[in-house]
Amino acid sequence: MRKVILFSIISAGLITTICFADIGLDTDLMQSIDDTNKSMSSNISLNDVAASTSDAKELTAMFDQVEAFFVQKGNAPDAVELAQKSKDLTIAIASEVAAKDFDKATNDATSLSRNCRTCHTFYKKE
Ligand code: HEC
Repeated sequence: MRKVILFSIISAGLITTICFADIGLDTDLMQSIDDTNKSMSSNISLNDVAASTSDAKELTAMFDQVEAFFVQKGNAPDAVELAQKSKDLTIAIASEVAAKDFDKATNDATSLSRNCRTCHTFYKKE
């Protein structure tokens, strides 16, 4: 009897894990990307090297997670590519603001926002 109960507990745990692995992209992550992207744009326009560098680096790490999500999800090559492109843009922005090239950083930030919308058009439901 005890074995049966133990088995039930283990299988319930397994089922929970499988279901959670299948949930969509973490909306908290996207919300943080949204906040950080806005903060980065304003810091670039203020020519604030330190703050825009740290925002760009945070975005790089977050897009790394987005990329990993779509790689794991499979069947979404466009999303993987868009996440990679976004990540590359944030890396470029970090070095541009470090070099005080705020015009180029502004252009790349605009391209980044375009990537957000492109991915949402295809992969964000509702
Ligand atoms: C590679 C694809 C992709 C890219 C690039 C991307 N997003 Fe998203 N985003 C999604 C998906 C998918 C959802 C829907 C998540 C869900 O509801 O499960 C989403 C949802 C959101 C949401 C809604 C979150 C909520 O609370 O429901 C915001 C805000 C958002 N994204 C902002 C951004 C911003 C800003 C950028 C660019 C700096 C960006 N996203 C780039 C795929 C992407």
